[in-house]
Amino acid sequence: MMLRSSRLVLASLLLASHVAVAEWPQSVSLDSFVATEQEIALQGVLANIGPDGTKVPGAAAGLVIASPSKTNPNYFYTWTRDAALTLKTVVDEFMFGNTALQVVIENYIHAQAALQTVTNPSGTLLPSGLGLGEPKYNADGTRYNGNWGRPQRDGPALRAIALIQYSNYLISQGETDKVKTIIWPIIANDLSYAGQYWNSTGFDLWEEVSGSSFFTTQNQYRALVDGGNLASTLNTPCIACAQAPQVLCFLQSYWNGKYLVANTNLATSRSGIDANTLLGAISVFDVNAPCNSPSLQPCHSRSLASFKVFVDTFRNPDLYPINAGVPASDGVALGRYPEDTYFTGNPWYLITLGAAEFLYDVAAQWDTEGTITVDATSYPFFHALYPSIRANATYTKRCKPITFQKLISLTTAYADSFAAVAQNYTPADGALAEQFLKTSPGTPISAERLTWSFASFVSMAHRRAGKFPPSWVSPNTTLPTTCEATSAKGVYAPATAAGAPNITAPCTSTVLFVVNATTYYGENIYLTGNSSDLGAWNLDNAQPMQSSKYSATRPEWFAEIPLTAGQTVSYGYVRQEDCGQPWIWESINRTLTVPACVEGSTAVLAETDDAWVGSVGSGGGC
Ligand SMILES: *[C@@H]1O[C@H](CO)[C@@H](O)[C@H](O)[C@H]1NC(C)=O
Ligand SMILES: *[C@@H]1O[C@H](CO)[C@@H](O)[C@H](O)[C@H]1NC(C)=O
Ligand SMILES: *[C@@H]1O[C@H](CO)[C@@H](O)[C@H](O)[C@H]1NC(C)=O
Ligand SMILES: *[C@@H]1O[C@H](CO)[C@@H](O)[C@H](O)[C@H]1NC(C)=O
Ligand SMILES: *[C@@H]1O[C@H](CO)[C@@H](O)[C@H](O)[C@H]1NC(C)=O
Ligand SMILES: *[C@@H]1O[C@H](CO)[C@@H](O)[C@H](O)[C@H]1NC(C)=O
Ligand SMILES: *[C@@H]1O[C@H](CO)[C@@H](O)[C@H](O)[C@H]1NC(C)=O
Repeated sequence: MMLRSSRLVLASLLLASHVAVAEWPQSVSLDSFVATEQEIALQGVLANIGPDGTKVPGAAAGLVIASPSKTNPNYFYTWTRDAALTLKTVVDEFMFGNTALQVVIENYIHAQAALQTVTNPSGTLLPSGLGLGEPKYNADGTRYNGNWGRPQRDGPALRAIALIQYSNYLISQGETDKVKTIIWPIIANDLSYAGQYWNSTGFDLWEEVSGSSFFTTQNQYRALVDGGNLASTLNTPCIACAQAPQVLCFLQSYWNGKYLVANTNLATSRSGIDANTLLGAISVFDVNAPCNSPSLQPCHSRSLASFKVFVDTFRNPDLYPINAGVPASDGVALGRYPEDTYFTGNPWYLITLGAAEFLYDVAAQWDTEGTITVDATSYPFFHALYPSIRANATYTKRCKPITFQKLISLTTAYADSFAAVAQNYTPADGALAEQFLKTSPGTPISAERLTWSFASFVSMAHRRAGKFPPSWVSPNTTLPTTCEATSAKGVYAPATAAGAPNITAPCTSTVLFVVNATTYYGENIYLTGNSSDLGAWNLDNAQPMQSSKYSATRPEWFAEIPLTAGQTVSYGYVRQEDCGQPWIWESINRTLTVPACVEGSTAVLAETDDAWVGSVGSGGGC
């Protein structure tokens, strides 16, 4: 990886930005753009983090808000996934010398300790960790109560990865005691969650489909390996970490012979061609990992093949008119997946930038390994890059230096061409939204100032400058001979030393509430009741029900809820209308006695078979 003379670039740019602001960013060189935008992006990230973030007044200390946007779409929440990915980049930036960021990291740690204990629609921390699967919380750290795609199982793994990287840094500074008493208890809960639920379905990173997600599995694997290493440094057990080989085994199953399929174990069908897999590869990137590592690094043949299939999908001008006429050797604007309809399905900054980062990672890994292997799987990727390349060949730095360097420089240039696409569609103030239109002129749309977009820019710029996070992959990783469906029962406790409230666990029994209720599109059903675990008739704490089994023949809404055992509860269902019309209550109150609990069991011990009683709603036409 070539190091660029960034100091010179910055100096010339500071001059340029004073004289020619109106022409920035399209008229400057890519080097100049990256140098200036990297700083804008870092400030953009920090402006979205409470309590001092200038764009997110009201956000609690240490909470990373997804975007200041409060309407169309409302992203004024903290997502566990986005926050953790952002913090990972903040920790990188801190380790590369930006010491002022330590307070941001420390605030995040304390905020997460408390967040882990917030009772939410996915459940509670105690006794089984279910609450950790909640995807998002209000900006003040309270539970978010809307109907949502939950649980999402990548969040705890990503948070563990970010906290482990910071912990390893602290240990290198002699602060092992602080790690063990304050940070490890937070990490341990998240590792327990990954070890217990990696083999259970959940919603993907786009919060749309429930199944198994490549991105989730890959990060769960990394978290369990990272966690196992930290646990042994701290001389403390990590039972969940022993699941890592089975998670790795499962990770291999996403390969379909042509590309890595993003989502499996799904009820619905999709091509599975999705940014999920390239975002997974860059989030587990280790510059020292061998390319054939089963952790599926960016330079793995299967990752390269998937990258090619994914990018080529978006070269289709019928899908993305904005990419029409771009030569096959150049980067294009990239979106989430070809079937996407969200905001009509457009390119995303973080994915286009992620593609650049992926290719910088690939070039760096080849350079470190000193070998580039072209096999039948990766041949299409190489052929597009360098048409005269031989299939089934190995190029080493020592024996084939010319071809070796040629492949590295072509890949670096290809990476730059993706960064240049982002440059092309960056507005004059450098603010990165979530998306830009797939039709010319590629105007930014959806959530403004998306934290994850900014963070992805900073991360891309680090890799482009040859700055890499610490290694984590063991060179000797082997796969189990057979994959097994396993799970390790987790151990969960509030991280009180980091500021979590000292909550205790009641003994609970899980009740599956099922109600037939015909609803119109946009109407939701909630469950509430007189006990505190059913929200004490307060709709702010009612339990959102799920409609994923709803059909014309059976209008089923359901929710699986652990309730304090032995109590008799009065409960009922409520309709939430689509345009803020008053909620509609059932005309009866129902009664249920919660069965005695079985210590440690999350099995369903009682099930209702209800049908809505009362008036129905109608759409507000808003
Ligand atoms: C559980 O693991 C087994 C073995 O790897 C795999 O076949 C199965 O699809 C997995 N299921 C889920 C939901 O992860
Ligand atoms: C490369 O090797 C594979 C497996 O040995 C073979 O199937 C394939 O045809 C070879 N490709 C070329 C272009 O030689
Ligand atoms: C990995 O394997 C190599 C060679 O087989 C050996 O020299 C090295 O000690 C091993 N490393 C670990 C961490 O086991
Ligand atoms: C938390 O509560 C438990 C049970 O009441 C108690 O044993 C423990 O000492 C408390 N921990 C802290 C840190 O206060
Ligand atoms: C809830 O209602 C049931 C049934 O009427 C009653 O037995 C129970 O005591 C009530 N619980 C609370 C907390 O008021
Ligand atoms: C259900 O119970 C609540 C709380 O006691 C009460 O306010 C409400 O009127 C009851 N509803 C019906 C339909 O009896
Ligand atoms: C709910 O609908 C299903 C399917 O039509 C039916 O079998 C079941 O009896 C219904 N439950 C109630 C309480 O009406």
